[in-house]
Amino acid sequence: MDDHPSRKNLKIIVKPSQILSELNQIKKGLRNKTKEIAPKFFYDAKGSELFNKICETDAYYQTRTEMSLLHRRANDIGDLLGDNRIILEPGAGNMRKVRSLFKAVKPERYLGIDISKKEVVKSSHALAIDFPKILIFGIVGDFLLIDNDELSELIPDACSRSVFFPGSTLGNFSPDQAQEFLTQTGVFIGNGGIGIFGLDLVKSPKILNMAYNDPEGFTRDFNLNLLRRLNKEFGANFDLGAFKHEAIYREDKGRIEMHLVSSKRQVAILGGEVFEFYEGEKIHTENSYKYTKQSFESLARSCNFSLKAFFTDDREYFGIAVVTFQ
Ligand code: AVJ
Repeated sequence: MDDHPSRKNLKIIVKPSQILSELNQIKKGLRNKTKEIAPKFFYDAKGSELFNKICETDAYYQTRTEMSLLHRRANDIGDLLGDNRIILEPGAGNMRKVRSLFKAVKPERYLGIDISKKEVVKSSHALAIDFPKILIFGIVGDFLLIDNDELSELIPDACSRSVFFPGSTLGNFSPDQAQEFLTQTGVFIGNGGIGIFGLDLVKSPKILNMAYNDPEGFTRDFNLNLLRRLNKEFGANFDLGAFKHEAIYREDKGRIEMHLVSSKRQVAILGGEVFEFYEGEKIHTENSYKYTKQSFESLARSCNFSLKAFFTDDREYFGIAVVTFQ
């Protein structure tokens, strides 16, 4: 079956499904005074597909800008990486960005983790075909729940390690969570390990708001897909027509906030529990923090990383930071 394609240089690892705990996490968030659902739940097969569509819109400049930056700076990044490294990519999605790096530097092993099984199987298989000398691990799971020991089992002892975290996924974390994530990353890569982070940069609110309100409506569909997913997977009965997509840049907080806004007073049942909504009540579905070179550098420094390079495009829309851990 195509699910576990057999190639010598490919291993697919599926972490045990956490369906029940996922439902509980979601219910817990909906009991809060300010209702919330964590952004990792966007990425079922349909959500991953919609995210890939967002990335191709004119409004969502991030992906295009980062890809061309990676392409242009691949050799510089490759020099900083050196060779014989392990590259770990948490939240790897379609695994397209790492291809630019492989042109400049070929690691021994690549470990791509993503929460969408379909995406992992498809993307890691394509990588394994195109880069036959790299041992590709496609890992299905929540990258925040996979511990360092489990990953270390997949890595020969002597290999130096690096973490590739493009796409501004770091932006989904609050400052505290980002600090925690960087600290864990430091533990994983160890002394001399390298981190490569893609960061969406602070810019005019007009451009940011447009990026999360694309005229095609893919971001709206992506946001609403959360509720469709709850209906499909957990037998909930959210009325998709009675919630509106909202995305706004909060300059005071330096972040885009996404919400689903209830357009009327209504109730929805999820996992045997009744959730009430008043007209205008919101479910907070995502934060997407924007960085500056300075804000990232001070965060990195507080976690014992030092900044080796910071690459940006001409318009300074997006940044790629290369840091080392000591
Ligand atoms: C994948 C978290 C970087 O915050 O821009 C895109 C997700 N949300 N459009 C982002 C997203 C709405 C994206 N990240």
